[in-house]
Amino acid sequence: MQIAIDGPASAGKSTVAKIIAQKLGFTYIDTGAMYRACTVIAQENQLDYGDEEAILAAVDQNQIELKVVDGEQKVFTGKNDVTQAIRMPEVSANVSQVSALSGVREKMVSLQRQMAGKMNVVMDGRDIGTTVLPHAEVKIFLVASAKSRAQRRMLDLKQRGIKSSQTLAEIEESIKQRDYKDSHRKISPLKKAPDAVEIDTTKMSIEQVVDAILAEIAKSQ
Ligand code: C5P
Repeated sequence: MQIAIDGPASAGKSTVAKIIAQKLGFTYIDTGAMYRACTVIAQENQLDYGDEEAILAAVDQNQIELKVVDGEQKVFTGKNDVTQAIRMPEVSANVSQVSALSGVREKMVSLQRQMAGKMNVVMDGRDIGTTVLPHAEVKIFLVASAKSRAQRRMLDLKQRGIKSSQTLAEIEESIKQRDYKDSHRKISPLKKAPDAVEIDTTKMSIEQVVDAILAEIAKSQ
């Protein structure tokens, strides 16, 4: 079974996707973490974020892997644990440029489909319902106001122990810029699939969002 959860930055996708995957015994796949890992690889190799050929060559040499270690989701590039590095503001500021490169998308989408072909998945991202898993049994599109998303992002950074000098207003601005870039790129932009169910999480608790999605999953069976 495939459950696709898409939506703009910090709409709560990963939090609820993880809980749902745990409840159903499915594998959670954070596709944003994969594009962030490509960005870290570009950064560490001091590559231009628009240099598709060089980034693809570097990604080929540093296999991107999502693994659960001691019950925690970890992201690796080759042997490096980049779980923390992928959340840094420098990565958030440049990931939209890297993720807009056609070769990078092709490579990541192919990896994502391979994973979804082998197991039951809850996959979150921007193009899961439209491009990666167009036949997913359940498609959810999560939205929330930019202000509440900025608040969630700030809390998320704090909980991950990442110090950021950005104010709430700056976080809101950077989220809006990322959403603009993600929804206006040429290849598989952020867009609600016609058959996705939209849920506005602005005024909902995590439990309420989880219940709403579980209800959609129950309906599909
Ligand atoms: O989900 P997260 O905010 O971590 O995603 C980081 C970035 O990765 C997004 O802003 C977008 O540029 C890119 N992304 C994408 N397609 C996906 C998931 C993420 O282009 N399926």
